[in-house]
Amino acid sequence: MRHRLVLNHITHSFEDGGTRRTVLDDLSLQVSEGELVAVMGPSGSGKSTFLSIAGALLEPISGEVLLDGKSLTGKDKRELSDIRLHQIGFVFQSANLIPYLKVEEQLMLIAKLGDMNMRKADERIEELLSLLGLQHRRRAYPDKLSGGERQRVAIARALMNDPAVLLADEPTASLDAARGMDVVRMLAEETRERGKSAVLVTHDERVLPLCDRILYLENGSLVDRSVKPIL
Ligand SMILES: Nc1ncnc2c1ncn2[C@@H]1O[C@H](COP(=O)(O)OP(=O)(O)OP(=O)(O)O)[C@@H](O)[C@H]1O
Ligand SMILES: [Mg+2]
Repeated sequence: MRHRLVLNHITHSFEDGGTRRTVLDDLSLQVSEGELVAVMGPSGSGKSTFLSIAGALLEPISGEVLLDGKSLTGKDKRELSDIRLHQIGFVFQSANLIPYLKVEEQLMLIAKLGDMNMRKADERIEELLSLLGLQHRRRAYPDKLSGGERQRVAIARALMNDPAVLLADEPTASLDAARGMDVVRMLAEETRERGKSAVLVTHDERVLPLCDRILYLENGSLVDRSVKPIL
């Protein structure tokens, strides 16, 4: 199977009181088309840092990210923002909605930025709001939404342009158990049926059976725990 998203030997560190602290240490990952990968790990282990690097939001100190075989290294800001708009759907740990736009406007903005035909955009908005159980909230502003509704709008927004890669940072954190399962089931379907590649950072063990692989971020790199070791 083709690898859509590849991270090769990624290292990243942050300045911490005069010293540099390594967060990612020689991390590598390959995600195929149609594959949904779960990433777990304790708070502070570097999951959001890893996802930001995978989503071209943060440049690693060393190592390389490839999208459909093309390296992101050396691309300028414009090229990277174009790639993010068209090829990557990113669900932030906090929903990050634009406060003065209604739900449907949040989605329409993405469609416009992506040069989507308006009829197609209307249909896609209808489809996503219905899949995420948000039809009745389409004219609401973010401050009138519950935390879980906001999170679901952020997911709809990430899927709006039908990106090949979907990166979601704890998308079920503010959802109740049933709603969390529904949302991940929907992400899994989008991933498999539309041949996307998805990485889901989660603390929610209930959603793991819906994922193809379960990885743990440990000591700066990803460890596969999908198959239990034979003792
Ligand atoms: N911009 C930054 N500047 C300095 N340190 C940072 C920065 N971003 C993250 N860190 C540090 O890097 C480490 C990893 O952070 P990160 O947000 O990736 O963890 P996480 O696994 O996503 O945690 P959580 O589960 O709490 O969301 C933390 O110790 C954090 O303090
Ligand atoms: Mg995080």
